Amino acid sequence: MSGSSGSSGASDILERLRRLRAGDAPTHGGRVLSYVYDSGREELDELADAAARLARPLNGLDPTVFPSIAAMERDLVAFTRRMLHGGRSVVGSVTSGGTESCLLAVKTARDLWRREHPEGGRPRLLTATTVHAAFQKAALLFDLDWDPVPCGADGAVHAADLIARMGDDVALVVVSAPAYPSGALDPIPAVARAAAERGISCHVDACFGGFVLPWWPELPHWDFRVRGVTSISADVHKFGYAPKGVSVLLHGGSGHEGRRRHRTQFFATTRWSGYPVVNPTLLGSRSASPLAAAWAITQHLGDRGYAELTGAIRRVALALMAAVDGIRGLTVMGEPAGPAIAVIADPSVPKPEQVDPHRLADALIGYGWKIQHQPGMTQSDGVRIPHSAHLTVTPVLEQRISEFTDALRSASDSVRGRPRADARMLMAGMRTLGYGEGGRVPGPEAAWRLLRMAGAAKMSGEQPMARLMALIELLPHPVAEALLTELLARTSEPH
Ligand SMILES: Cc1ncc(COP(=O)(O)O)c(C=O)c1O
Repeated sequence: MSGSSGSSGASDILERLRRLRAGDAPTHGGRVLSYVYDSGREELDELADAAARLARPLNGLDPTVFPSIAAMERDLVAFTRRMLHGGRSVVGSVTSGGTESCLLAVKTARDLWRREHPEGGRPRLLTATTVHAAFQKAALLFDLDWDPVPCGADGAVHAADLIARMGDDVALVVVSAPAYPSGALDPIPAVARAAAERGISCHVDACFGGFVLPWWPELPHWDFRVRGVTSISADVHKFGYAPKGVSVLLHGGSGHEGRRRHRTQFFATTRWSGYPVVNPTLLGSRSASPLAAAWAITQHLGDRGYAELTGAIRRVALALMAAVDGIRGLTVMGEPAGPAIAVIADPSVPKPEQVDPHRLADALIGYGWKIQHQPGMTQSDGVRIPHSAHLTVTPVLEQRISEFTDALRSASDSVRGRPRADARMLMAGMRTLGYGEGGRVPGPEAAWRLLRMAGAAKMSGEQPMARLMALIELLPHPVAEALLTELLARTSEPH
């Protein structure tokens, strides 16, 4: 029946979905070290399901008609505000996820900047190169110039480098807690202080670490305790352990500044003939299910639950770093603070003893584990952040940490000394076809041909990625982006 327009019974439909789901990477058990955040506590899934079901028929478009939505949102904002040490003047909204929170933080700062610069001009968005890609998207959508400041090869940005680029045209500086690619905590106090002195808004992107770092010991302050921080995003659908579709964006500042900023985020209009529209976030009609699930989970876990789960993450992170330390040829990038670790080939040992992180990631699939390939990046100052493999550390991993570290050691042994996949021949071929630096950008058909040429037209999570990653690093950005767009777009084209 699949793909046809005929109707089927409910049990057939669900059976088909079960079969489809069987082809997915495992979402529970910690075997996939990105995308999914398993607390290891089954009761959370049951609670989230029940809460989501209760809220399913609601429409978040109008909490005055459905006041349960307002009540849950108030509780979730209050929980997050307390967690991030915000006072009573800190207010905010629940959004559909990290990207939406980041987009709204940028839109808010841009609108405030425009208000304060009636003379016009194009505002700038200042970040480290390691800031999440959602901020590039925000700059594109909301008409700002993205100004990425280079990091060291360890993936850490220096406060002085960000501060040196602050100017009157900067609408927002963003710092990460932590940055996803490197796991580094950006120098938030120094940057926020400098931003405040210049009247620049400062957003802390804690989408990734927001529900972990509050319980992580011995960190410098990075939340609303830092003067100059004007907004913070924290995702409940990551380490808040809620199902996907929920994040919190909070606004602060002195006096009623938080309120003023928050209201700037809104869109309201009476200029059409339909119902008056007031949208705090980007969407119109909204499901209340993610909110209800997130609300239920935060109420259930509370401060104590999150502290315990963070304790587990920290023990796993320390065990993993110790294990990597003991693997010749592999090392941890920089100094991660929190639940993200990136591993790279150890540059201090001779090449024949190095472990290439992408070969390692490919080999680990054979052992039943998935870590995430990250291509290397040469920054505007010529400093290259090396290609790496990312590990998101979740509490559930504590249950099988030795199984994972054994796999890490065996997989490393199996690839030690193997050089990085070489895509130079392939790149030469693409250059001949006109897709080199300064060349053309392929349309859908040409992109598909290039993907076939690269052997990447049928990518699945089970296939080796090392060569595609090497190619991505060599290709001009617009060409690589066109190929990746094609790869994903084809997955949803009906056969
Ligand atoms: C630091 C950071 N910011 C923003 C995001 C975007 O979040 P989402 O994927 O929920 O849109 C992520 C996602 O990994 C992240 O790590």
